[in-house]
Amino acid sequence: MPARAEFHDRMLSLGLARVSEAAALASARLVGQGDEKAADQAAVNAMREQLNMLDIAGVVVIGEGERDEAPMLYIGEEVGTGNGPGVDIALDPLEGTTLTAKDMPNALTVIAMGPRGSMLHAPDVYMDKLAIGPGFETGVVTLEMSPGERVAALAAAKGCDPSDITVCILERPRHDEMIAEVRATGAAIRLITDGDVAGVMHCADASTGIDMYMGAGGAPEGVLAAAALKCMGGQMYTRLLFRNDDERARATKAGVTDFDRIYSRDDMVTQDVIFAATGVTEGNILPGVRREPGWMTTETLIMRSKTGSVRRMNYRTPV
Ligand code: FBP
Repeated sequence: MPARAEFHDRMLSLGLARVSEAAALASARLVGQGDEKAADQAAVNAMREQLNMLDIAGVVVIGEGERDEAPMLYIGEEVGTGNGPGVDIALDPLEGTTLTAKDMPNALTVIAMGPRGSMLHAPDVYMDKLAIGPGFETGVVTLEMSPGERVAALAAAKGCDPSDITVCILERPRHDEMIAEVRATGAAIRLITDGDVAGVMHCADASTGIDMYMGAGGAPEGVLAAAALKCMGGQMYTRLLFRNDDERARATKAGVTDFDRIYSRDDMVTQDVIFAATGVTEGNILPGVRREPGWMTTETLIMRSKTGSVRRMNYRTPV
């Protein structure tokens, strides 16, 4: 058997951007139309079609769900032409289906790629997440700290007052106590209704004004966010959350042996990866797809963890 090609992240990054772009263009037609499912399906179809044109022997490790519940881009699905390096792929063709349906900010298409075995096979359960941007000592904030202690520790490390810290949190009843505790420190909270991949990425981009992300969201989105932070810089700590035995069984099936383990960013993404995201609706780090008579324009972030390079690519296509 011929030896498998190496993972040339530099060469593959443009291909990955095309995949992300195609999904954004497809779902952009459904922005504000009130139909989450249709927007997601359009993104899935386009992403899969483009992925299958890439010269990779890819396996989806973070995808649309388990094989029996997702007809396309399911976990374990082989993608690509098969002629090329063996790679793991984590994707969310439309991160923020409701944001898209309601034309609310920060819906993205997201995809990460790395060598085989580079990304945690996270089950579809909730995950407790904590993230900060680059430039701080490792462990300056931890999952074990209370929300208030995290704010105090980050403020001390930044040399500012807690009231100068902004924390991003998903607006959910499960976060009511966390929100009250953070507010009691004087810190500001940027509440988001969906889209915690973008929420975590905001910590690594000073222009967003967000210093820290915390709270429970989807575990697959956690791995995607870890891949983004591995490229942008920053720390992330997570723990899987289980509500019942069925969720524990899902985790066991995915290869999880320690249910209480705390994962750092580099435990979730163990080797160098590439990451692409395209804005679907207007956002803080990416503009949405622009539609003009006869044209559509996208903006895509393409990042490589090996070099820490962050590129932005504009694409205009006739429609
Ligand atoms: P969808 O794109 O599948 O709608 O998910 C969006 C999202 O907000 C994620 O960013 C987040 O991790 C998760 O849903 C939170 O789950 P829940 O809505 O159950 O709180």
